[in-house]
Amino acid sequence: GIAAALLLAAAALAILAPPARGLDRGEFPPGFLFGAATSAYQIEGAYLEDGKGLSNWDVFTHTRARDIMDGLNGDVADDHYHRYMEDVDIMHSLGVNSYRFSISWARILPRGRHGDVNLAGIAFYNRLIAALLQKGIEPFVTLQHFDLPHEMEIRYGSWLGAGIREEFDYYADVCFRAFGDRVKFWTTFNEPNLFTKFAYMLGQYPPNHCSAPFGTCNSGNSHREPYVVAHNIIMSHAAAVDNYKRNYQAKQGGSIGIVIAMKFYEPLTNATEDILAAQRALSFEIHWFLDPIFFGEYPKEMREMLPSNLPKFTLAEKRLLQNKVDFIGVNHYTAIYAKDCISSPCNLNTYEGNALVLATGERDGIRIGKPTAFVGFYDVPAGMEQIVDYVNQRYENTPVYVTENGYSQYSNNSMEDLINDVGRVNYLQGYLSGISSAVRRGANVRGYFVWSLMDNFEWAFGFTVKFGMYHVDFETQKRTSKMSAKWYQDFLTGSSPVD
Ligand code: NOJ
Repeated sequence: GIAAALLLAAAALAILAPPARGLDRGEFPPGFLFGAATSAYQIEGAYLEDGKGLSNWDVFTHTRARDIMDGLNGDVADDHYHRYMEDVDIMHSLGVNSYRFSISWARILPRGRHGDVNLAGIAFYNRLIAALLQKGIEPFVTLQHFDLPHEMEIRYGSWLGAGIREEFDYYADVCFRAFGDRVKFWTTFNEPNLFTKFAYMLGQYPPNHCSAPFGTCNSGNSHREPYVVAHNIIMSHAAAVDNYKRNYQAKQGGSIGIVIAMKFYEPLTNATEDILAAQRALSFEIHWFLDPIFFGEYPKEMREMLPSNLPKFTLAEKRLLQNKVDFIGVNHYTAIYAKDCISSPCNLNTYEGNALVLATGERDGIRIGKPTAFVGFYDVPAGMEQIVDYVNQRYENTPVYVTENGYSQYSNNSMEDLINDVGRVNYLQGYLSGISSAVRRGANVRGYFVWSLMDNFEWAFGFTVKFGMYHVDFETQKRTSKMSAKWYQDFLTGSSPVD
């Protein structure tokens, strides 16, 4: 009777949420952050409310809807601006102890440093932070996650003009001053490497510039642009870190870092050429931003291959770069093969980065792991352990937070398939196991964030892919937990019913 019923119930639960096999939260060091991640433009909505200014993404999605896969925008998105209390409750029920979100610059300084601080914008983030802290959830805050005041785009071409550095420094200062007594984890930029590529090489993110030989559009065609943009971003980062360290850190006791998009590159063969190609790919993707921040210089491979396009750091810039970041944020989703394209022929349509490396993809049949709904994101759990080791080893064993890791589904799947996201459970389970084993071996990893808490606006893909552990019905704004949310909750709260 009862035993059989219990068994049945256990079996039913097991079908609902596969147990976190081999994973035990207790094996992670105390204080390890487990969270979920989002960003302002992707979830907030309320795009013109309470004094917020237009952002580059507001203008882009409205004027070039044809460049968004489903023609949609983030005007409403998850309406998180109004529903943040419900969303904090969801996080609390998951059992996370941290939440990674970004601040909308246009909500805080609609016109940049020449205009007023929008107090209603400050008040919104104060309410959000208060709600999080009340539930024991540590805010982990990104200052710059792709969206900025449209006015910055007009004035400086976003990151092209050096004047943006002072703007960012000013904005960061407003945030440290307003929120730093409660926010203990800051990151300056989210994925500046990926942003630079999409906004200034491939023409797919505002300001939609292309750079030969990558883009197919024709605006802003200087091959130098991406490197100038990166230089301004690196120096904007450095100025904000310098300010934080000099004026806030001792008083507020927080830490500050930067988040980089990191694939892992596996050489396609054991040939020296392919091993060098993998090294170049890592250089053009990761070292491009982190080497200056750690060593005050662009990586050797880039200096050799881009003798005239790569800016040089002045002495004053190098001095500013001497501040250390307290941690590195790693956004990791996939690993792919790298193949040499200098001494062997390649199909340049699948060019990745700028390193004469063919490092992907379905078109060539050269890839690792199972595809997901997101182009180029294959399920390769082994890459997670490799990437955190790589970062620890190259960058002075600086603490690493895995600030994003996640799995996408196509939005036109049936509701049933979307909710029963076995693929996501397997993916997260595999990647988290990689972190667990790295941590067991002593890797310096301090936290892990699933991208994303809930389905949201995926940039140029609009709402066509879904990364959430919670399903969102964008008509009704109803949030529904998927199997992965139950899986994460079981792992975090130790309430996994069977193993
Ligand atoms: C990268 C970005 O930080 C985030 O905005 C995006 O939604 C996810 N990864 C998935 O592509």
